[in-house]
Formats: sequence, structure tokens, C-alpha cells
Amino acid sequence: MIKKGIILAGGYGTRMSPLTKAVNKQLLPIYDKPLIYYPISILMLAGIKEILIIVNKGQLYQFKKLLSDGKRFGIKINYLEQNKPRGLPDAFILGEKYIGKEKVALILGDNFFYGQSLTAKLKSCVKLSNGCKVLIHPVSKPELYGVAKIDKKGKILSIREKPKKSLSNLAITGLYFFDNKVVDYSKKLKPSKRNELEIVDLLNIYKNKNKLKSEFLGRGGAWLDTGSIDDFYSASSFVSSLENRQGLKIACLEEIALRKNWIGRREIYKSISFYGKCEYSNYLKRLIK
Ligand code: TTP
Repeated sequence: MIKKGIILAGGYGTRMSPLTKAVNKQLLPIYDKPLIYYPISILMLAGIKEILIIVNKGQLYQFKKLLSDGKRFGIKINYLEQNKPRGLPDAFILGEKYIGKEKVALILGDNFFYGQSLTAKLKSCVKLSNGCKVLIHPVSKPELYGVAKIDKKGKILSIREKPKKSLSNLAITGLYFFDNKVVDYSKKLKPSKRNELEIVDLLNIYKNKNKLKSEFLGRGGAWLDTGSIDDFYSASSFVSSLENRQGLKIACLEEIALRKNWIGRREIYKSISFYGKCEYSNYLKRLIK
């Protein structure tokens, strides 16, 4: 069972400058809550209670002010700083001590997932016994993503980063589940031409050993990657439409924790006093009525 998860919440956020000049992208709003709430909610829905958040050097204070040690959500949050964005596999080099001898999930701080069968899929992914599992999702513009070709059983036959010629329409999303070998494999990677450690190179190590599997998030689910300003607006309007129609929040961390019995009314009251008078607090009040 995978019990630990890492959220990569650093990065330059170049595409969203000037918004990201002084503020980390993951702290910007997707409708009514900071972006970072969404990847945290995904790990929590997967049953992961130990989370390491990797942030840019100098930005720890802002994250801690918002999330603290995670007790409010019934989880344990640790933090590490990344000096500069050295690539996604750097998470496993920086996180080596934190990971120890365990398996680990990685989610990119700017990835948004939603869908009815998602929780069941996440729960199946954390059962990973060995190798690596990635979540794949159909997209209309595969040339913008890491793309996978799979066989009928979901085994990945080949992967390409931003392929010019169509390989398939299945993008590899920013949610990955790894066995403990990921630490050693990451340490062996060499930086690419753009001077970053590449996740595709890491996944290819698993693929060449016949250990790369996939879980399919189909059309009943949504995966949005919030890298650009337009993406932020699309994701915000998606969340606002659903929340206002249903009267239920997406990625309300306190609600997830309460439903899982990780926290009780006491922690909810603490959150209400932390947030102050706002719509999010009103929602929390309704939860414990
Ligand atoms: P990217 O989308 O590759 O980069 P970015 O968010 O900095 O955006 P831009 O391309 O506009 O400069 O990163 C995906 C996510 O992973 C994002 O949430 C930032 C995070 N990240 C790190 O925390 N450390 C890293 O070394 C890299 C490459 C990304």
C-alpha cells in the first residue's frame, strides 16, 4: 500500500508571469480556493495521509501559513525547498530521506482531477505492489503532452514527450505511483538538453523493465493541467459551475477528512476560526450542523 505522497509545488510558472512573479502558482485561486488544495485532495482521496510538499526556495512561509502541519485536515504535511526547478524526478532525489524504504505517489501541484470513478481508481492505484503506474486521460491535443500507447491490458508499449506525429490521444497526467526503486533510478538520470531531469526518461526505465502500467481515466472524468492563465480560468469556471449547481465543494480538504473520520467537529471549528467569515467557512458550518 502506498502511504506517502509528494506534491511538486515549485517551478517558475513562466507562462503565468507576471501573476507568478511574487506568488507561487499553487497559491493562486482556482475559483474559491488555492490551487494546492486540489492535488492535496487527490492524495487524501487515495487514502494518503503523509504528504511532502516541495516548494521553491524562499516560499515556505506562505505555504506553512496556509496549510501548517496539516493537522486541520487530519494529515501530516512536511515541506522541502527546491533551489531551482531541476525537473520532476528531482522530487525523489530531494525526497530520498522522506521516502525511506516506502513506495510513493507523486502529483504535480498544478494538476486538477475530477470524476465519479476517480476515488475508486485512486484506491486501486495505491495498492501497487511493484513497478510504476501512471494515470492516463484522452486529450484533443496530444502534441502538447507526454503521450502513451497502450495494449488492451493497459500495459504501456511506448511513451513520447510532445510527439509531432500522432502516437495516440492518451496523455500521461501528472499523477504517478512508484515503487521504492524510483529513488535509485532518479539518481541515475542525466539532465536533458533543457538541463532538467525528465519524467519520461524515468518512466522509460520502468517501461524497459516491463514494469510500467496505466490506469485509464476516461471521459467520465476530467483532467486539467493549469499551466496557463486561460487554463486557470477554464478550471475556475468548471469548479464554479459544479459547486454552484450542486451546492457541494470540490477539494474541500476538511470535508474529505471529516468523511474519512480523520478529523472531528473540533478541527472543523478550528478551520472556521482560521478562515474567518467567508463562504468557505459557511460551507464548513453547514457540514457539521
Ligand atoms: P511545469 O509546468 O513544467 O513548470 P512551471 O509550473 O514552472 O510552469 P512554466 O512552464 O510556465 O514555467 O511544472 C509542472 C509542475 O511541477 C508545476 O506545478 C511546478 C512543478 N515543478 C517543480 O516543483 N519543480 C520542478 O523542478 C519542475 C520542473 C516543476
